[in-house]
Amino acid sequence: MSPGLVNIAYLIAASLFIFGLKGLTHPRTAVRGNRLGALGMLLAIVITLLDQSIVGYGIILAGIVVGGGIGAVLAVRIKMTDMPQLVALFNGFGGFASVLVAGAALLEVAVLKGTLGSIAINAQFSISTFASGLIGAITFWGSLVAFGKLQGLTNDGSVRYPGDQIVKVVLVIAILIFGYMMVIYPDSSIPYWLMVIVASVLGILFVIPIGGADMPVVVALLNSFSGLAAAAAGFILVNSVLIVAGTLVGASGIILTIVMCKAMNRSLVNVLFGTFTVTEGGPPADEVYGGKVKSTSPEEVAMLLEGAKRVCIVPGYGMAVAQAQHAVRELFDLLEGHGTTVEFGVHPVAGRMPGHMNVLLAEADIPYERLKDMDEINPSFKQVDVTIVIGANDVVNPVARTDPDSPIAGMPILDVDYSKIVVIIKRSLSPGFAGIPNPLFAADNTLMLFGDGKKMVEGIVKSIKEELG
Ligand code: TAP
Repeated sequence: MSPGLVNIAYLIAASLFIFGLKGLTHPRTAVRGNRLGALGMLLAIVITLLDQSIVGYGIILAGIVVGGGIGAVLAVRIKMTDMPQLVALFNGFGGFASVLVAGAALLEVAVLKGTLGSIAINAQFSISTFASGLIGAITFWGSLVAFGKLQGLTNDGSVRYPGDQIVKVVLVIAILIFGYMMVIYPDSSIPYWLMVIVASVLGILFVIPIGGADMPVVVALLNSFSGLAAAAAGFILVNSVLIVAGTLVGASGIILTIVMCKAMNRSLVNVLFGTFTVTEGGPPADEVYGGKVKSTSPEEVAMLLEGAKRVCIVPGYGMAVAQAQHAVRELFDLLEGHGTTVEFGVHPVAGRMPGHMNVLLAEADIPYERLKDMDEINPSFKQVDVTIVIGANDVVNPVARTDPDSPIAGMPILDVDYSKIVVIIKRSLSPGFAGIPNPLFAADNTLMLFGDGKKMVEGIVKSIKEELG
């Protein structure tokens, strides 16, 4: 194919990636954005295959069938709550692919040298093979550890040992030495594979001290790394569309990481090198809740809702676990039909992955304009008659505002405690992700509806229907 045609096709593919990302910024356009991105990738792959002198398509087809098959089965079977693990695996394999691309490029150099006698290797090649192998190996092993922690296969706590930072510094020095050897002996792949082994150990040691609680942030960061590794592989192969795609993934991953850190009021350094500990301090649960918690029933909540003019629903991780979104949609329809204004207060880190609640509510066809960001809904909670919190805990915990020693101190929260009545649907008084008691459950204006999110919302819907005849 003519280089001009290839470059035009790559430009179109890169534009499709960018329009795809733009589409992903809003739920209404997200599906279209996803399709545009996939179309861009298809175009890039087809053009690359046509451009290269592919000798046989057998192995490529086998790869597509095996990889595509595994991907399709995983995508269909994975539970929404397990999505961070799946993303971790995807990132990891992206990193591993970059390690193999760089290794294969070095192998090719050795073969060429064998046939031609000598071969000139430029700095771009050496630096990009080093970067691709280094970042790819860290991403692969770091992602596997993240997967193990999220899946409950390994200890999900923070694993620390004496001198851990020194060990990491020694590993970094070893990596730099092997990198230097790669420049001195550019046609040997031995320093490369030694560097990959050390980088793999570093990848594992990088993630094991980080607690399971911070894993979603680490997954977003590793996602960024996988993009950078792919961009480095693009420089090895001198493939502009791979450089663009990798850079886009690298940039969007780091932006997402920063957004998540801000929403939890943590710095990235604190996430990576600090420890998010479940506090031993602070008042114990007995003291916070003792004799102050009032429980209610679906029938009572139905009566409260019938008298309400304005209702806010705040979903959290528990709504995802209970898969209550369709029941919530039914409740929304009933209340709206009854003339009540219903809005949804969506916290940016509610659930276990960015946009978790938006995805679930969109799946249940809740109108997008009813989904309100924290900044938008917070000033109006005083005018809300009833707020129903479904399986959310940390994101509505007022200690974030009031207790500077709390692990979630300073985390922006949804100020549901300002509404006239708060109904909390959850199964028990057990804590959320941060592992701390929530004084909201014992507040004067709070009623606890204990039970599974889906069953309780269905119970409320049933009672309203009975009341309305
Ligand atoms: P959490 O604070 O984790 O609380 C979820 C609550 O859901 C639990 O207290 C649990 O109580 C309840 N629950 C579980 N299963 C349920 C079911 N079947 N029915 C009803 N309730 C159920 O959730 P949140 O408020 O959404 O906060 C998210 C947390 O995750 C924050 O601490 C955030 O920092 C952290 N985090 C989020 C992200 C992203 S990107 N979303 C990333 C990293 C960390 P019971 O067991 O009593 O039912």
